[in-house]
Amino acid sequence: MKIKMIAANWKMNTDLHQAQELAENINNGVNKGMLPENVNVVLGVPYTHLYMLSSVFNLDKVSLAAQNCAAYEKGAYTGEVSAEMIKSTGAKYVILGHSERRTYFNETDDIIAKKIDICIKNDLKPIFCCGETLEERESGQYKEVIKNQVKNALFHIDKKDILNIVIAYEPVWAIGTGLTATPEQAQEIHEYIRQLIAEAYNNETANSMPILYGGSCNPTNAESLFAQKDINGGLIGGASLKHDDFFKIMNSF
Ligand code: PGA
Repeated sequence: MKIKMIAANWKMNTDLHQAQELAENINNGVNKGMLPENVNVVLGVPYTHLYMLSSVFNLDKVSLAAQNCAAYEKGAYTGEVSAEMIKSTGAKYVILGHSERRTYFNETDDIIAKKIDICIKNDLKPIFCCGETLEERESGQYKEVIKNQVKNALFHIDKKDILNIVIAYEPVWAIGTGLTATPEQAQEIHEYIRQLIAEAYNNETANSMPILYGGSCNPTNAESLFAQKDINGGLIGGASLKHDDFFKIMNSF
């Protein structure tokens, strides 16, 4: 059976009160059975909300994710939040390599690889993001860009731990722009990523890793994207901040 997963990326939105309201609305929907049984739901929320939200949700049904973590274990790194701290809030996942972090905070493949290793060590599952810019797509280099991002961040991981990675393909030109990749464009890359994993590991591993699509995914386009063979669900930004839109997306398989 196809693996199905929806992850929300709230980014730097919601104060604690708004987060609680949104979470309660989501939780009410979950309790009313609006969440399909076989869909794994993860909410990527600001650090400050993780612990509070882990008491709102039944964590067997909805998992929490941080949106970043430090590249260091612990110590004199003022302002940083470690994987160990994230783990202690009850979160299970960490979004890493998001294009906003690559662009605004100069995160390189090396830094991302370090963060992935620290998450694995602390029993947190990375949701690793990759994707090309518009320029890279238009110049026809997009597969090469994605191959390098995937290879540099992931292929040093051993065959047991790689199974704990979720990959999100997020074309930079589609994030927050209202422009979505067509289902065919997205499928092409998802299939390509799966093939890269199969070559580096094996087919079984490639088929058991969720590969999510992200970039202006919404209740209108989710169904045609998720119908693609290699698309296991979505990483949802803007549309995850409205609980009714989020439920429509979760029910788009
Ligand atoms: P978007 O964001 O759905 O608002 O385009 C997706 C993401 O950045 O993860």
